[in-house]
Amino acid sequence: MNRRQLFEGGAALALVANLPVAGSAFAEATTGQAEGREVLSLDKGWRFFEGDIAFPEPIGNSATYDSTKTGAAGGAAGLNFDDTEWETVTLPHDFVSFQPIENGRNVAQGFRRRGIAWYRNILRFDESDLGKHIELQLDGISTYATIWFNGTLVRHSFSGYTSSYIDVTPFATYGNALNSLDIRVDAKSMEGWWYEGGGMYRHAWVVKRNPVHIVTDGVYGFPVKGDDGWTVPVEVTLYNILKADAPVDITVELLDATGAVVDSGRTSASVPSLDHAVAHLALKPHEPKLWSIAAPYLYVVRTRVLQNGRVVDENSYETGFRTTRWDADKGLFLNDQHIKVQGVCLHQDHAGVGVAIPDALWEYRLRRLKDLGCNAIRSSHNAPNKHVLRLADRLGFLIMDENRMFNPSPEYLDQLEWMVRRDRNHPSVYLWSVFNEEPMQGTLQGYEMVRRMSQAVKALDKNRPVTAAMNDGYFREHNVSQAVDVMGFNYNQDKYDRFHKENPTIPLYSSEDTSAFMTRGEYVTDRDGRHVIASYDDEAAPWGETHLAAWKAIDTRDFIAGGFVWTGFDYHGEPTPLSWPANSSVFGIMDLCGFEKAAFYMHQSQWIKDRPVLGLIPHWNWPGKEGQPIRVMACTNCDEVEVFLNGKSQGRQPRNKYEMNTWHVPYAPGTLSAYGYTGGKVVIKTAVETTTDPVALVAIPERPAIAGDGIDVMTFRIEARDGKGRFTQFAQHKVTFEVTGGEIVGVGNGNSNSAESEKGNSRTLFNGLAQVIVKSQEGTSGDLTLTARADGLKTGVVKVKIAPTAPWPYQAVSPSVQPVPVLWTAPLAEQAPATVPQNLSPLQTELWGRVRAGFVNDAPGRDGYVVSVARFTPYAKVQKQGGLIRFAAVRGAAKAYVDGILVGEKTDPATAPFEIRLPARTGERNLALVFKVQAKEPFGLPDLAWISAS
Ligand code: GAL
Repeated sequence: MNRRQLFEGGAALALVANLPVAGSAFAEATTGQAEGREVLSLDKGWRFFEGDIAFPEPIGNSATYDSTKTGAAGGAAGLNFDDTEWETVTLPHDFVSFQPIENGRNVAQGFRRRGIAWYRNILRFDESDLGKHIELQLDGISTYATIWFNGTLVRHSFSGYTSSYIDVTPFATYGNALNSLDIRVDAKSMEGWWYEGGGMYRHAWVVKRNPVHIVTDGVYGFPVKGDDGWTVPVEVTLYNILKADAPVDITVELLDATGAVVDSGRTSASVPSLDHAVAHLALKPHEPKLWSIAAPYLYVVRTRVLQNGRVVDENSYETGFRTTRWDADKGLFLNDQHIKVQGVCLHQDHAGVGVAIPDALWEYRLRRLKDLGCNAIRSSHNAPNKHVLRLADRLGFLIMDENRMFNPSPEYLDQLEWMVRRDRNHPSVYLWSVFNEEPMQGTLQGYEMVRRMSQAVKALDKNRPVTAAMNDGYFREHNVSQAVDVMGFNYNQDKYDRFHKENPTIPLYSSEDTSAFMTRGEYVTDRDGRHVIASYDDEAAPWGETHLAAWKAIDTRDFIAGGFVWTGFDYHGEPTPLSWPANSSVFGIMDLCGFEKAAFYMHQSQWIKDRPVLGLIPHWNWPGKEGQPIRVMACTNCDEVEVFLNGKSQGRQPRNKYEMNTWHVPYAPGTLSAYGYTGGKVVIKTAVETTTDPVALVAIPERPAIAGDGIDVMTFRIEARDGKGRFTQFAQHKVTFEVTGGEIVGVGNGNSNSAESEKGNSRTLFNGLAQVIVKSQEGTSGDLTLTARADGLKTGVVKVKIAPTAPWPYQAVSPSVQPVPVLWTAPLAEQAPATVPQNLSPLQTELWGRVRAGFVNDAPGRDGYVVSVARFTPYAKVQKQGGLIRFAAVRGAAKAYVDGILVGEKTDPATAPFEIRLPARTGERNLALVFKVQAKEPFGLPDLAWISAS
């Protein structure tokens, strides 16, 4: 991609707000598609099997010997494995999200079965790729993954939250010689006590670079402000797979949002053969525009590597100029302006898709948080999908970037260091968190562990403080607060003052608070019957506080830099304090679909300062309660607020920022309205009305257009409305969806008690709402139509435009192809055999030689016959339909036998392709080639040989 294209992507963003940031141009710009390298998506063509597949147990000597060799992995980890009848899936894919929600399963995992699964793909690299550096990038696999490439184990990934970068260059084959990538996922293992999903739930990529190139995450250049202005100290890590050292020039440019180069630098380096070199240079832009929450202005740092004046690699990433300063008394300053962190903790989990959240759905979630007035996200308790960081940079959020496992041993330090390397250029990332609530936090051992982890972080990035989210041990003789730069308090708000008094120089913030309960649309708690909690914010976990109490404790203390509410959205698992059938949490400010609960209005009123907001609860349908007082709550940032019932004032009150404004209004059907006043004038109004029975469904798309690239997704909000077109809170209809021009990837309704499937095309409304998540189809344009039907309700139909959009470039993949196995080869005989052997004894296979595809056997000393035999089981499809055995080349004259019957003959000894029929039959087959060999003439199979259905 050239600079123009890069910024066309950026400009399109600003102009066409109806397409997601996640569009393909953006993806290219930020995945590093550039001169000298190809970044190809490997999301397609995966064959998936749920369950484990045993490795074959070798019995004989040769089989055992062979099984231990590089490239010889067996079973589903091997090249020769029949996955042709497996399901084909596209990433992101969370196989656990397809599981039923069943009582008796692990509550933390949302009562869904996890388990073991396999993913396989076959990659084809063009002949022209030979000589390039080829790397696989698997962004995230839950949980323990073992990865084989061409039958060789290339990586153990022991965390569901880290990426695997695998250099497959030495193993790769080209042209028709296909490459098999096989992954066993053990998702029984748990790293968290929340829903973690299972499988390849983030993207996968193939990155092809020139032999001398920049390594992955290999440009570190984050702007810092010193006494003499801004500097971008750039560190470029290069690698060289050539056989000789390579002298290179490196240029780095800083481009502003219009694409203009505002500063640049140049240096040179010599990259040793099969080794790294690190080049440094510094840019000193004059008065760059600052990045902030309100105006997240981004620059691009573009690095090019030149060999003999030719660009051989290029890397571009977005960054921003901003400073942070922590003050132990006054909190946090962003660009020297005080900022109170109004944050939420997030798990990676959404209705319908589990952890396999498409990029555009992440954008939906972050935009909902913007509407809330949230300015910071804690990625709890793990490193986020890298797309979340790009969105946070672009939309304006601060990110507390958290490591999963608290462990300074080498393997786990690798995970921490990977996170820092990947994320350290993002202006949004402002804190590195090494743990959450670890029992060793108040011990000498915990302190020593954090010291080491903090040091590992600082060796890679000194621009952000290191923190830990402690929930105990603060006052012990040895504790972790002594080893971090800034202190995260989880809960324990009653200890803020004492800690600050005893540690007046340690900056403090709430890394986690609240854990309050609320079910969307419910206003009467019924824990044991309906398993719902009222939305007045009266109830919290014993370790937590209500939304209102938690924020008051933070907001009224200058020395608390802000806080992170547990949580922004509900998530599967942790249905505290409810029990089965409750299977998802009720902690969220929004439900699993991102539909707002009452807490949304409470936080909006406290967090939004640049426009008036006013929320009114509850709904106004209380039949049977006529004349009885109903608790009414208004949430506003206006000076005053007044509530009216059917036009009659119920009283005007000054804003009650921390408790909200409350009235007890005797119920009468009609309209309950609220006015917000600022400076004595009405600046905002809202109302809830008594509704009548639902009569119609309405589908509301998130955006007016979807990108027709087969990647973009969009949410649709399904609402039931009454005869006057008003939202009806009580509708609980089962709705069936039909989509043309797209495909449903998940459904939800935010009901934490529902065990309905989140897949398929139907969902019951919960308190009037449901959500459908629809993915576009590649190469489409025109309209996408969603139709929602329910018995007794008028059908809802909505159309959105499909914007023709080029998909990402994809790596070429192939269905599984069965190679012709190694043929065991008898010693040279004078006569052709009367019959070909059907079964070989283990001893014969030890003593005999081999003929294998791709090799030519040495010339014999005299004329004669060589019998080669293999037993194999054709892939299921060939067993059913019959097929062909295809030799791309056979050298020498040969007769071919299948199951002892002559099926073909090649009379000309010259090297030529050869093909024989394989009749349909189940079970094992016998293939024999009888070569008629000539003295001094090599013979064999110099090229590929495979068995195919046609
Ligand atoms: C916290 C913990 C979170 C979540 C929460 C529920 O202690 O850090 O992960 O479990 O409790 O209240």
